[in-house]
Amino acid sequence: MLSAPDPPLSDGVVTLRLPEERDLAAIERGIADPDVIRSFGRPTLTAEQLLELNRRRWDEGVGATFAICDAANDCVGHVFVNLGDALRGSIGYWLLPEARGKGLATRAVRLLSRWALRDLALARLGLSAEPWNFQSQRVAERAGFRREGILRSYAEIDGRRVDYVSFSLLPGALEQRLS
Ligand SMILES: CC(C)(COP(=O)(O)OP(=O)(O)OC[C@H]1O[C@@H](n2cnc3c(N)ncnc32)[C@H](O)[C@@H]1OP(=O)(O)O)[C@@H](O)C(=O)NCCC(=O)NCCS
Repeated sequence: MLSAPDPPLSDGVVTLRLPEERDLAAIERGIADPDVIRSFGRPTLTAEQLLELNRRRWDEGVGATFAICDAANDCVGHVFVNLGDALRGSIGYWLLPEARGKGLATRAVRLLSRWALRDLALARLGLSAEPWNFQSQRVAERAGFRREGILRSYAEIDGRRVDYVSFSLLPGALEQRLS
């Protein structure tokens, strides 16, 4: 079982809180967005099912999904960390189209990375983006992740094999960046 940070993670512009029922319309739009589909595949769950799945993942201690919230505390996207073996985590995110181009994903990834490496005591945080997804790669770099190389034919999304650019952030780098 994972405990949500209390108080919620915030940098004064972006707040990360647990997804709630009032986010359902935003989640529904998010999972149907063509850019989100291109990265994550066509949705196989409804927004309600996704909310339920993400709650279960918190309870089972296998993943932590947060709503990325603006100043009005409205959900404008999701950022999540999936937990693996050997103290590894991998991070992912999406924003609604109108929330892009403002630095909100970078802020969310910085907040989540710091929490995952410190409070969850992870030894490695990974982040993967497809080679064409320069926006996502820029988010990774701005948030302090280091590019490692290309994982060829690493995953399958909607029936196509995809390469990933692999990034990682280690606790030491985070300390250096904050000091
Ligand atoms: C990937 C994704 C989240 C990136 O969103 P984004 O808005 O480009 O990323 P950020 O929130 O970090 O914003 C950075 C952009 O805002 C601009 N910006 C504006 N004000 C800013 C500020 N105060 N601080 C930082 N950046 C700011 C930056 O210049 C940058 O734009 P640029 O890349 O054209 O230079 C978004 O494109 C998305 O949801 N895509 C679909 C899902 C997806 O691909 N997810 C990732 C799967 S690996």
